[in-house]
Amino acid sequence: MNVAVIGTGYVGSVTGACLAMEGNMVTCVDIDPAKVDSINDGKSPISEPRLGDIIADTVNKGYLRATTDLGSAVARADVIMLSLPTPKGNDGADLSYLYNVADRLGQHIQEGAIVANRSTVPIGTTHHVRDRIAATTGKPFFAVSNPEFLAEGTAVRDTTHPSRVVIGADSDEPARVMTELFRPFVLDNPGKILVYDVLSAEATKLAANTLLAAHVAVVNVIAEACERVGADWRQVQRGVGLDGRVGKFLHPSPGFGGACFPKDVRALAAMARELGVDASLLELINVSNEHQKRRWVEKVKSHFNADLDGRKIAIWGLAFKPNTDDIRESAALTMIEELTNAGAALTVYDPQAMDNVRKYFGGNELIRYADNREAALDGAEALVIMTEWDVFRAIDLEAVKSTMAAPVIFDARSIYSLKQMRHHGFYYDSVGRPVVDGR
Ligand code: UGA
Repeated sequence: MNVAVIGTGYVGSVTGACLAMEGNMVTCVDIDPAKVDSINDGKSPISEPRLGDIIADTVNKGYLRATTDLGSAVARADVIMLSLPTPKGNDGADLSYLYNVADRLGQHIQEGAIVANRSTVPIGTTHHVRDRIAATTGKPFFAVSNPEFLAEGTAVRDTTHPSRVVIGADSDEPARVMTELFRPFVLDNPGKILVYDVLSAEATKLAANTLLAAHVAVVNVIAEACERVGADWRQVQRGVGLDGRVGKFLHPSPGFGGACFPKDVRALAAMARELGVDASLLELINVSNEHQKRRWVEKVKSHFNADLDGRKIAIWGLAFKPNTDDIRESAALTMIEELTNAGAALTVYDPQAMDNVRKYFGGNELIRYADNREAALDGAEALVIMTEWDVFRAIDLEAVKSTMAAPVIFDARSIYSLKQMRHHGFYYDSVGRPVVDGR
């Protein structure tokens, strides 16, 4: 099939590359010439495992190309995938990027084209997209919803081995074509393709993310209670996780981040409220999550008796989760902001997100950027771990102790054992477990 993918962010670049890998002729479109050049040079425009290799291979074989010219890409396309940013708006998502493109599609699309919305949107948006396109063309076309369920860091695997493919179509023909497009990814189990009406497909995406976010939010509250009472969440986690109904997503954290959970929870809550549904429970998910982000700041502050002026603190992990350079809504940003506002001198390190953090904080002189994990520790009076990168797991704790000015670790991801920390003489405050003071 001839596929145009509009927007080359996390969803678009991965979707485009994976569809090209299956032999479709894919054209990615972006307004950013740097991203377009990157794809045409066979390089990934984002940091995502395996994506670079797939893009290099498919560009080389002629299945994938990129352009800034929306019209030429769309004119030949059987399927047009919309994977545009829908950033946080005043109340839910800002749909202006999506609607701007929709307004320009009508003059270019061919008869019978399928416009598949893959951006995460409030329920009903695909119908608005359809109406906006129809306002500028008399040609028949189809608008379908095709939400993605890929997570950053595992986006390629999530696309090529999806847990499910949801297609929301209001008629048979676009459902058939979309099923054909995704069939290669579910050869092991074609039943993973779920064909729904448009509104139910859109609702499935928001429901999935809201439930996952709620899960993490509840886990974090229980983990906080465990800390207070002296229970060990690691043990609790195993004990509840063996019940398949509770399942995964049981790791406590300094609050969930990323572009999806906070925004989707807000969007669903706003929509429910508008519909007259009592959405207070959903609203509390984000409120509670903000509390989690701040409570790690408070832990550090109270360790220094609220006097952080000139204190040297190291931070490991800046991305909102490992295996990505994405810092959107990352709890590490809250930590950096609050600690530097209080006058602390930070040295930060992340395997991938350094450039993004540098851009985000501009010329803040209280932030130094270390070249590696060890360099960040030099003279630090405390280490704060915000993201559970693998590279932080196996460390020489004696070397860490001698590099730091004080053996103090705040670990918001609980990556070390309490026994280890006690043995090596650290003050160790980790998530969901009692504080250990081996000094
Ligand atoms: C999330 C969903 O997991 C995907 O299914 C969805 O497709 C995607 O949003 C999207 O809407 O595009 P993502 O935001 O990439 O994916 O990352 P997750 O792995 O879900 O993690 C989100 C946040 O929750 C991270 O900050 C992570 O550290 C936190 N988290 C996750 C926990 O604190 N505990 C857990 O057990 C799991």
